[in-house]
Amino acid sequence: MFCIFWTAAPQMVSASVGTISFPVPQFSAADTNLYQYLPFPMGASVGIGRMKNNAKYSEVVSKEFNSITAENVMKFRALHPAENTFNWADADYLVDFAQKNGKRLHGHTLNWYQYLPAWVTNFSGDSIAWENMLKTHIQTVVAHFKGKVTSWDVVNEYFNDDGTIRPSVWVKNLGPDYIARCFQYAHEADPDAILFYNDYGHEYSSAKRTAIANLVNSFKTRGVPIHGVGMQFHMTHTQSDANINAAMAFAAGTGLKVHISELDVRVNVNKVKHLIFTDAMALQQADRFRFVVKAYNTAIPKAQQFGITTWNVGDADSWVPSWQGAPDYPLPFDANYLRKPAYKAIIEGGK
Ligand code: G3I
Repeated sequence: MFCIFWTAAPQMVSASVGTISFPVPQFSAADTNLYQYLPFPMGASVGIGRMKNNAKYSEVVSKEFNSITAENVMKFRALHPAENTFNWADADYLVDFAQKNGKRLHGHTLNWYQYLPAWVTNFSGDSIAWENMLKTHIQTVVAHFKGKVTSWDVVNEYFNDDGTIRPSVWVKNLGPDYIARCFQYAHEADPDAILFYNDYGHEYSSAKRTAIANLVNSFKTRGVPIHGVGMQFHMTHTQSDANINAAMAFAAGTGLKVHISELDVRVNVNKVKHLIFTDAMALQQADRFRFVVKAYNTAIPKAQQFGITTWNVGDADSWVPSWQGAPDYPLPFDANYLRKPAYKAIIEGGK
């Protein structure tokens, strides 16, 4: 296994990764910051429990990143658990953290087919009642965070991988064009907010890329306010250069801001139950992080670079193991928040 130590002064030293030796940047705990090495904002999504209860976690977030995304606490179920109840406490905690530490706060997500409270999935109103409910949610949330949240994932994962529209309670009750009204409602509530359409799979589905490009073009033609595309990039350590480049070319072509919004690189593609994270995996994973960051930095014009966000911080914080039912190590920090080879690779990719 590799080991990366904190040392007293910034310097380059060789760290040992099994039998492989390679240089890693070493910094004192006082001056560590990933984002200062990158020419665009570098963020992480954060879990509220760890932010409140794990001092090491919040310290790493504060020192290494200059943008944060709420992993869950700004989703519908978290913010709006009952029809007439909004629960701001957890999200406001992140607002406070962002303001005190000078971090950009990205909002995730105003509309999604998942993580809805039961009162929404069971909602029995007619289309006017559904429309009011959608509009009230979006505008109450955006107004609450106006001036505090820079940007929003307005709609998340509207498309299937084959480019068709995903069935959801929203499409079922409001028709497919409800997505345009989500953007209009958000824009009315905060005209300064940067509004994103967020999805995954750009690196492997040309059909989804085409569907998103068509959506963006239709919004532009109709004057629907959209300012960015979020590409989640939940990827595997075997993803190809060509696929990653295709996603970047698509995103650059939209002319909009581009956010790599949920980056992680999983290595347990075969879902092995007791996987050991080998040095070879660590290096292959680092190579993919480097390639994504480099491709972003070179293919996306500067004015379109909104930044890159990893989906959480350390391997033990990741959603991946519970989702795939098998261990994984998808992030640039290990479970003890020591930097992995992927950390250095991100810096190299940004050069
Ligand atoms: O907070 C409850 C806790 O009280 C309860 O005991 C526990 C029991 O399961 O569940 C906890 O809620 C979980 C929540 O994460 C907070 O940890 C939910 O079950 C779980 O479904 C939820 O998963 C999140 C998932 O979105 C669904 O909202 C993941 O953490 C989060 O990483 C994931 O993020 C999504 C992005 O929003 C969109 N793109 C894909 C990405 C990965 O699925």
